[in-house]
Amino acid sequence: MPERGLPVIAVLATGGTIAGAQDDTTSHAYRAGALGVDQLVAAVPGLAQLGDIRAEQVASVGSQNMTYAIWAQLAKRVDELCRDSSVDGIVVTHGTDTLEETAYFLSLVIRHDKPLVLVGAMRPATAPGADGPANLFHAIALAGCDEARGRGALVVMNEDIHYAREVQKVACAGVNAFASPNRGRAGVMRGAHAQFFSRNESVHSTASEFSLDTLSSDEWPRVDVIYAGVDLGDDLISFLASRARGLVLAGVGDGNATDLALQALQRASAQGVAVVRASRTGSGSVDRNVELDDDALGFVAAGELSPQKARILLTLGLLITSNPIQLQEIFDRY
Ligand code: SIN
Repeated sequence: MPERGLPVIAVLATGGTIAGAQDDTTSHAYRAGALGVDQLVAAVPGLAQLGDIRAEQVASVGSQNMTYAIWAQLAKRVDELCRDSSVDGIVVTHGTDTLEETAYFLSLVIRHDKPLVLVGAMRPATAPGADGPANLFHAIALAGCDEARGRGALVVMNEDIHYAREVQKVACAGVNAFASPNRGRAGVMRGAHAQFFSRNESVHSTASEFSLDTLSSDEWPRVDVIYAGVDLGDDLISFLASRARGLVLAGVGDGNATDLALQALQRASAQGVAVVRASRTGSGSVDRNVELDDDALGFVAAGELSPQKARILLTLGLLITSNPIQLQEIFDRY
């Protein structure tokens, strides 16, 4: 907590179920992003003891409709708030569907050590037992903690704290929908206090080479994800290879696919499309030259990154290089 008293926390709202409203509370149906940030903040008991809250609405979307244009706007505002010495921490409220993607993106492009916490909810704000107020309470408390400084973007859901690189939405329903399958959760909220279990070992924030300066929403390279399975053909890959700068394989097992699909990916790589192999399994590490000869095929191995996070890193990586060896170095670092 700062010497001058309660921390000043900026809350940037983007929509999602945390701001969702039902027409009928007996039904599962709701409209994501229907409530404004002031209503979200007003619903949290005890906030006045946690900090001085400055709330802003950045967007009001279901996070399935998150865009690079909103990311650019959000990242610019987060960056401004990081430079504002009167602000101690930042919270971003977000839909849970792509929360892990926005968190990872921000952890790569926000080059500051100020606490930055993303939070969502699985139940709409009007539901009995809505989880949004508790999650937002924890996010604001965490953003005001010195212990959250220098860890890159954090995600807090259901009392658990996660590092942006590790966190995944692992269930499409239920309040316990987030996990960090490879390395475990970063810590836990005990009331308004954070207890961390581990350091963030990945390269992030102040050590990142990515920057907002290089991003403009019109210029981001197109990267598509191919989902592998039994009898995957080559036509979709050939189609996308003529349009995308990069392809991520959500491969079976260790980032693998049918011979036909791999041949099409090899052709794509030979014509200059960056090809990254990730796994559809949800955990583990796709390592270079294990099941496949990445050196010969011109592929990049995603390591522990999920296909959706590999897509983000490849998009940012392609702003720097399209050389597969250099892209592999980027994947090995982040
Ligand atoms: C969304 O991602 O906006 C909808 C789902 C949710 O927030 O839980």
